[in-house]
Amino acid sequence: MIDLHTHLLPGLDDGAPDLASALEMARFAAACGTTHLMCTPHLHLGRYDNCAAGIAATLARFTDALADAGIALQVSAAAEVRFDSELMPLALAGKLPCLGYWQGRQLLLLELPHSHVPAGTIQLARWLMEHGLQPMIAHPERNKGLMSRPEQLRPLLQLGCPLQVTAGSLTGRFGERAQALAERLLLEGQITVLASDAHNLTVRPPNLLPGLTAAIQLVGEPAARRLVEDNPWRITETHFSQSAA
Ligand SMILES: [Fe+2]
Repeated sequence: MIDLHTHLLPGLDDGAPDLASALEMARFAAACGTTHLMCTPHLHLGRYDNCAAGIAATLARFTDALADAGIALQVSAAAEVRFDSELMPLALAGKLPCLGYWQGRQLLLLELPHSHVPAGTIQLARWLMEHGLQPMIAHPERNKGLMSRPEQLRPLLQLGCPLQVTAGSLTGRFGERAQALAERLLLEGQITVLASDAHNLTVRPPNLLPGLTAAIQLVGEPAARRLVEDNPWRITETHFSQSAA
């Protein structure tokens, strides 16, 4: 399985605090059947001011440490980019780390605030697409505005924005309302990727299996596996073929 959204890179955000914790998380992810994992630290201007160079340097240290520890997990990195109009100059400068490719554009993991869908979301998504970046909406089912009014997703779906739902939402880890919206999106065929959004080993672990099991019960095994195998592989393949080269 390919886990496309995680916070394993040590010391960059509210995920793994240090290398030892990151290695423990990686060992657990591999034991849960994850073979490839994208590290997506928060890039949240003014809060987590991560940049492509810093993320790449931390990834290099983490990759070496995984090899030294003998942990069989392929890793690469992008970022979980928080909605902000100030992203535009970074996009123009090619400084937003991307997950890979989707339908001819570079794919950006875009996080909305948890409370609502901000004014200008559609405009920013359209602007990014005009500049070669396709936003993928991170965990829409955990956005309170979308829980109340899921129809706000429609313009983003009409633009072609794929949705990444947190696997744990399907097991109720984020509450009944997030679970209900995740299930509805799954049954409607609107989810492109299920990912762990792992932050630690306790409450948000890097384990896709419970969410996958829940998804299989709702839509069957082939459709559920596409969300943790085929689709995330299509997106991230260039990351891993580059690292294998
Ligand atoms: Fe995240």
